[in-house]
Order: sequence, then C-alpha cells, then structure tokens
Amino acid sequence: MTDVSALQEELWEDPYPLYRLLREGGRAHWSERPRGWLIPRHADVVAVLRDPRLGVDRRLRPGGQCPRDSASILEEQRERTLFFMDPPDHGRLRNRVHHAFTPRRVEELRPRIRAIAEELLTAVEARGRLELISDFAYPLPVRVIAELLGIPAHDLHLLRRWSDDLAVLLVEPFKGEGAEERRETSLTEMRAYFEDVFANRRKAPRDDLVSGLVCAGPEDALTDDELFGLVSLILVAGHETTTNLIGNSVLALLRNPEARRFLAAEPSRIPRAVDELLRYESPVQVAQRIAQQDCEVAGQRVQRGDRLYALLGCANRDPEAFPEPDRLDFRRGDVRHVAFGSGLHVCLGASLARLEGAVALETLMRRLPAFKADFEKPVWRRRLVLRGLEALPLRF
Ligand code: HEM
Repeated sequence: MTDVSALQEELWEDPYPLYRLLREGGRAHWSERPRGWLIPRHADVVAVLRDPRLGVDRRLRPGGQCPRDSASILEEQRERTLFFMDPPDHGRLRNRVHHAFTPRRVEELRPRIRAIAEELLTAVEARGRLELISDFAYPLPVRVIAELLGIPAHDLHLLRRWSDDLAVLLVEPFKGEGAEERRETSLTEMRAYFEDVFANRRKAPRDDLVSGLVCAGPEDALTDDELFGLVSLILVAGHETTTNLIGNSVLALLRNPEARRFLAAEPSRIPRAVDELLRYESPVQVAQRIAQQDCEVAGQRVQRGDRLYALLGCANRDPEAFPEPDRLDFRRGDVRHVAFGSGLHVCLGASLARLEGAVALETLMRRLPAFKADFEKPVWRRRLVLRGLEALPLRF
C-alpha cells in the first residue's frame, strides 16, 4: 500500500526516486491518500487515458454511488468543465472551441506572443536581475490567454487569485484546510465578472473567442453555465501549466549546461526541444480517471467508482519508453511523451503551449544569453499535480 502523502516533503523537490520505485514495483498500486490506483508505467498510462470504460464524470450515471468530494457549488462547477465530462456532452462542447486552438490558428498568435515576451524582458533589462516566474513565466501566458478571451489588461490582476484557487479545485487531490470558502468566493466573483463579459459581447461582439461563443446560431447556442465552464477552464488550464513549462524548462537548462549550449548554438532547435523539456519536467504530473464499470486495468481488477491516477510525469521517465530517461537529451527522435495526456481529453491548448514555450525560450536566450541562477536551491510549489516553481531568481 502506498501512502503518497507521507512522502510529500521530498516529493515537491524530487518525485523521481519514488516514481522509479512505483514503476519497478508493479503496474498498479493502491494508495490511501490520494485514495485510488496509481498507474506508473508509460504503456499503461496511455492505455488508461484511452480506455472508454474509464471516464471522468464523477456522478457515475446512471444511478451509481457518488464519489464526490462535496456537494458544493465548487463541485457543480467542476462537473460543467470539459475536464469532468464524458461523451456525448464532452465532444459537443469541445467542438465549439477546438477551431481556436488548431496549430494554424495558434501560429497567427506568434507575433503577439513575441511582442509580449520582448516587452517583459525590456522591463527588466536595466536591472541585471529578474525573478523569472513573476517577471516573465507568469505574465506571458496570462496576457496571451486574456487577449484571446478578450479580457482587458487592467483586469489581469483579478485573474491571478481566481485562477490559483480554481486550479487547485480542478486538479489537486490535496486541497488544504479551510480553503473551500475562499474558493467559493473566487468562483462567485469570477462568475459575476464573466456574466458581464457575456452580456457585453452579445450586445457588441468583437473579434475574440468569447464573442464567437456567445453569438453562435440557435442550434449551437450554449447555456451561460456551459459558457462559463468553458471559459473558466481555458483560463485556468492555459495559465499555471504554461508558467510551469517556462519555469521548469529554464531550471532544466541551468542544471544541464551541455544541453543549454546545444540550444544556444542553434536556436532553431528550440521548438523541438520543448517536447523533450515537457517530457523531462512535466508541468502536469497526474491525470485522473474514474472506473465507470468493474473491469481490469493494468493487470488489476478495479471496481466501478474507483479512481485511477495516471502518473504522467512518472510515465515520461519510463526507461521502457525513453532510453536513459533521466537525461535531458535534445537529440532524441520523436518524443512520445504524455505531458499533454492522450485520448479524448488530450490537451486542447497543446499547440499554444508549445508555441509559448518556444517563443519564451528563444526570446530569453537571445536577449539575456548569460542568465545565471541567483539562488541556492529552487523552491517548488507544494503541489502534486501541477509541478512548478514558486520563484526562480536569475542574474544576467
Ligand atoms: C505546458 C502547458 C500545458 C500542459 C502541460 C497541459 C496539460 C494538459 C493535460 C495533461 C490535459 C489532460 C488532462 C486529462 O486527461 O485529464 C490537458 C487538458 C486540457 N488543456 Fe492543457 N496543458 C497545457 C496548456 C494548456 C493551454 C495553453 C490551454 C488553453 C488555452 C489548455 C487547455 C486545456 C483544456 C481545455 C483541457 C481539457 C480538454 C478536455 O477535457 O477535453 N492547456 N492539458
């Protein structure tokens, strides 16, 4: 029996020794906290994420027991997001936004992403120092996603608190004591804010994603609940994850000088290198599924209602899938990582995240090529699912 919570202190810093034990110890492990089956190996993780018997809907229709954490408005909100929807609702909603995130549409955002990255680095250039997360890795994706949704720059400060609270609500199995109330407040405020945005766009549509969604014809019309579920998920999912990609990548380059020199010598290698960085230090470490029926998964009998935790970050270090998995190696061929998940729920924003990651690294390495660590030990956020740094101070 594995109790992941007992190992938390070391887990924030370095989960990889535990991951190795789990991979070597078997294909499925029961864990008391978080309660469910841990699936550590790459082949099994891919199979779990693609298995139609394993859904994401916690209500276990029709009529099964309900493994909800609580029956609050928070839980209702969760159930309205793509993350926690099974077919057919999932496909209907996902199709409504898919067009905005295709590689071709995303490529059109490149000049704007680059301009924001340049502007953020210009602001710190004279200082000789930057705190990578708050000066660069956080504001870059937030501004991109806010522009995509049509949220004005003067409201950006509101998004941070809401998004931080909702990220934990959506994905973290350990939610902390007393945080529920704060999250309800954030959710209520965010809902009121977006209802205003929806009403304004209905009256005066603009060239943004929200206008496209609210002004659809009657056969495609979404309810306000569905709209809010979509928009709030895009905001949260496109936010801390990409911050973590940039922060984790820069730390990986600081710790691997040879790999860093390889990229510095030929910056056109950066876009492909982003996939190796996603594999090596995955921003999302875990994806959850719920067995919708009694069945066998990864050689293990599981019962209807059981939770399964597909350990993405662990699978991405599986030697069966990646030779010498603990080496950051930009010469690897096709990196078939599961950092964006797989199957029906595969990340909607993968192209955008890859582009933002590549533009961020290209701009940083060109503008501040001599950046160095200005810390003794990096401080990781105390989270199990979203792996990222609290801060990453640099000198240049
Ligand atoms: C490096 C950055 C990112 C990583 C590592 C990441 C990772 C993931 C993963 C692992 C999933 C699947 C979860 C599951 O199967 O349960 C997912 C889903 C999703 N991601 Fe991302 N993501 C990133 C960036 C983004 C961005 C930029 C956006 C939006 C603009 C986004 C929007 C979504 C959405 C909407 C889903 C739910 C899709 C569905 O359920 O059908 N993500 N992401």
